[in-house]
Amino acid sequence: MDSGPKLRLLLGTYNAGKAVEISSLLSDLNIEFLTLRDFLQARVVEESGDTYEENAILKARGYARQTGILTLADDSGLEVDALGGAPGVLSARYAGAGASDGERIEQLLKEIRRIPGAARTARFVCVVAVADSAGKLMKVERGTCEGTITNIARGSNGFGYDPIFVPHGFDSTFAELPSETKDLISHRARALHAMQPFLARLISRNLTRGDANS
Ligand code: IMP
Repeated sequence: MDSGPKLRLLLGTYNAGKAVEISSLLSDLNIEFLTLRDFLQARVVEESGDTYEENAILKARGYARQTGILTLADDSGLEVDALGGAPGVLSARYAGAGASDGERIEQLLKEIRRIPGAARTARFVCVVAVADSAGKLMKVERGTCEGTITNIARGSNGFGYDPIFVPHGFDSTFAELPSETKDLISHRARALHAMQPFLARLISRNLTRGDANS
């Protein structure tokens, strides 16, 4: 772990599962993580874009502008080939506003109940965006993870659609695999791996200037 002043980075998400994964995936960097719980007055940024990129950028810029803190936001979803890529960018809102993860899983399994195993292909997609403390977009990265959808939910780790997604090369769902395994191969791991050199450069630049905490 690096020493010296830490880079303050706000995670622009209300999804606790995402926040845990992001901070764990970036734990090698000298970062002090803030969450939206530290800014209770912040208004929820509407995910009004048509793509993961648009929504990740909206969230990163929107929360950075409201808080004055360097912000990283994630927009992600599950694309099921038999459903033409749905629920995709609407993954969090599938089965209606206020539905639980369990209800969204139930709805998805119902819609593909007649699709045979070999055709139950899917992928998780994650786009991460970083905006500076003034809300200016700095960097966007994307990661994907290919797999298949099970017939029933299995496992209790992770969040969201993890209990019905088996990544390629495994027999277990993300919710059955240890978080360390998901963190090696997931869409979020890949997007953040691509983002890591940029954050490392920001940290070393700020440490040289001695203002990482400003
Ligand atoms: P959003 O990025 O806030 O629009 O929400 C993305 C939604 O996609 C989440 O609420 C989950 O339902 C789903 N999702 C994204 N990443 C994952 C993951 O790693 N595991 C399981 N579900 C995920």
